[in-house]
Amino acid sequence: MPDQLIARAKLAIRHAYAPYSRFYVAAAVQCVDGQVFTGVNVENASYGLTQCAERSAICAAISNGAKAIATVVIYTPTAEPTSPCGACRQVIREFSSDARIISVCDGPLKLDTTIKELLPGSFTLQATESR
Ligand code: THU
Repeated sequence: MPDQLIARAKLAIRHAYAPYSRFYVAAAVQCVDGQVFTGVNVENASYGLTQCAERSAICAAISNGAKAIATVVIYTPTAEPTSPCGACRQVIREFSSDARIISVCDGPLKLDTTIKELLPGSFTLQATESR
């Protein structure tokens, strides 16, 4: 387990902005070049504008020059770990074909999988290049 990455996600949870759902999520992304970025869910009074924690972290990574993602940790202060939503899986896939995805919570359960497992048969850049 990448304990440092998990620690970073747990530190970031204090910034989660979830006044509507009260479901707080933080993510820490380790890039292939070693850089680490965190993100949290950012909700909005116009509910549909909500940004998930994973996408917040990935946007930070890409905005700072990272090119590829190696590991994503998702932390929720809950009894059960949280798996990334479909939209976040697609965004993770954009920047990795084999990233490790680890979900941790305040209980003993953990999920430890890969984007390949979570999003088989994915739609990627290659598909758009076959025009
Ligand atoms: N959420 C995430 O941040 N990541 C996910 O993968 C699933 C859902 C957030 C969005 C919203 O703020 C709250 O969890 C409840 O859906």
